Amino acid sequence: MKKITEICCIGAGYVGGPTMSVIAHKCPEINVTVVDINQERIDQWNQANLDDLPIYEPGLKEIVAQSRGKNLFFSTEIDKAIDKAQMIFISVNTPTKTYGKGKGQAADLKYIELCARNIARVAKDDKIVVEKSTLPVRTAQAIKNILQNTGNEVNFEILSNPEFLAEGTAINDLLNADRVLIGGDETSSGQIAKDALSAIYEHWLPKDRILQTNVWSSELSKLVANAFLAQRVSSINSVSALCETTDANVQEVARAIGFDSRIGPKFLQSSVGFGGSCFQKDILNLVYIARSYGLNEVADYWNQVILINDYQKRRFADNIVTTLYNTVSGKKILFYGWAFKKDTNDTRESAAIYVADALLEEKAEIFVYDPKVSEKQIYSDLDYLNTREPSENRRLLKVIKDPIEASKDAHAIAILTEWDEFKDYDWEKIFDAMLKPAFVFDGRRLLDSKKMKEIGFKYYKIGQS
Ligand code: NAD
Ligand code: UGA
Repeated sequence: MKKITEICCIGAGYVGGPTMSVIAHKCPEINVTVVDINQERIDQWNQANLDDLPIYEPGLKEIVAQSRGKNLFFSTEIDKAIDKAQMIFISVNTPTKTYGKGKGQAADLKYIELCARNIARVAKDDKIVVEKSTLPVRTAQAIKNILQNTGNEVNFEILSNPEFLAEGTAINDLLNADRVLIGGDETSSGQIAKDALSAIYEHWLPKDRILQTNVWSSELSKLVANAFLAQRVSSINSVSALCETTDANVQEVARAIGFDSRIGPKFLQSSVGFGGSCFQKDILNLVYIARSYGLNEVADYWNQVILINDYQKRRFADNIVTTLYNTVSGKKILFYGWAFKKDTNDTRESAAIYVADALLEEKAEIFVYDPKVSEKQIYSDLDYLNTREPSENRRLLKVIKDPIEASKDAHAIAILTEWDEFKDYDWEKIFDAMLKPAFVFDGRRLLDSKKMKEIGFKYYKIGQS
């Protein structure tokens, strides 16, 4: 079997950084170099102060501390790292296309193609190229076409090894993965490559959790896994609207159905809507692929998951306006949370962005507190929507550091992220500081209804009347 001693990973983001840190940590005999075109990001990965890593993930800094500078390196010298490596992971971003054919739906593969061309240009000896990014089914063929037409006699094996980690629990997910998926060609050289990658994961995972498939099943399984997970959230969120009008309680419904072992209890937490860089992007991609093969019913079916998610975010914002006597103009609304879920500083597609945008259209004055998200990021998220001038976003929305002090004279608080610290706040003190009636809109079902109502709040919890 081919023994791997040098790995390169292109892309030092939320996937490349944590994944390679864990590989380096568990495989001390392998040198792992993570490269990126973004100098600032690489500098952050190399920061002496581990609290300033570009990504916040519980457990990450401890793992980086053990391996960095020994067998884990972060660099912008991409060509050098490609040249040295026997195995190259591609872990760059694959956002939804914002232009041209497939705009708003298809995955933009320009960064993937650039990587493939870079590898083709630099490689002088045989390489195993691993797709770590989430890619549309049959992308491996495009990568192969680029790599196999260099005329430099180098043999490339292309593997698909999608990543299933969730942000906020990335390190635990990597260390205790439910499964690792490795797709590759069903040839003898394809098998050797699959086994070489499998051997890396076998350093810490039992062999029976490492699944080998053909490359197309692996690519498609990643999109389908995310679509199924997002579908569960949209399903329970659609039920939350029904609960609010029928006096049922969405948590009780989720518990009741989750006890059925065929349904299971996980991923049934009703919320203001799913966010994150991947669910929407990957479903849109699935919808696009289905439509491009003429499978319109399949496309419509999955698209509905996104429509319900948009409905849930809109419904939450609309409810705030309606409850606050049909106008929020000039009213102070405090947002607790901006990240798309707790324990991450990632805000991509966070529901908070869309709820804020809807309320700013109604001329609300929003104050945002998030323990891990920077002011720069919050304004950049809003400006990206292009709904109003950046100066107007800064005039109407302020980012604050003290969530308790900011409750003074607030009309309402909206909970957008389920950060644990919000549960421990002195809610009586917050109530005293707010204007009355004091409203709390809990988009994460984080707080105790009975306690909040006893304090005196007008308390709305998603999925409960
Ligand atoms: P990210 O944006 O955090 O990181 C991607 C990095 O790639 C960036 O730092 C960027 O500068 C770099 N890059 C882009 N083009 C490059 C090039 N040509 N050469 C060198 N570097 C380049 O993205 P991410 O969240 O890590 O996601 C990466 C992929 O993994 C996506 O396909 C995503 O769908 C998938 N994925 C993400 C998650 C997640 O939790 N974020 C989980 C599973 C899978
Ligand atoms: C998700 C998947 O869980 C990962 O397996 C996958 O690798 C990743 O996408 C990816 O491909 O990027 P992630 O988006 O990081 O991971 O986080 P999740 O825990 O899945 O949460 C996604 C969104 O759904 C969050 O906004 C979360 O608050 C919301 N959610 C999740 C709910 O509203 N209810 C739930 O019951 C679960």
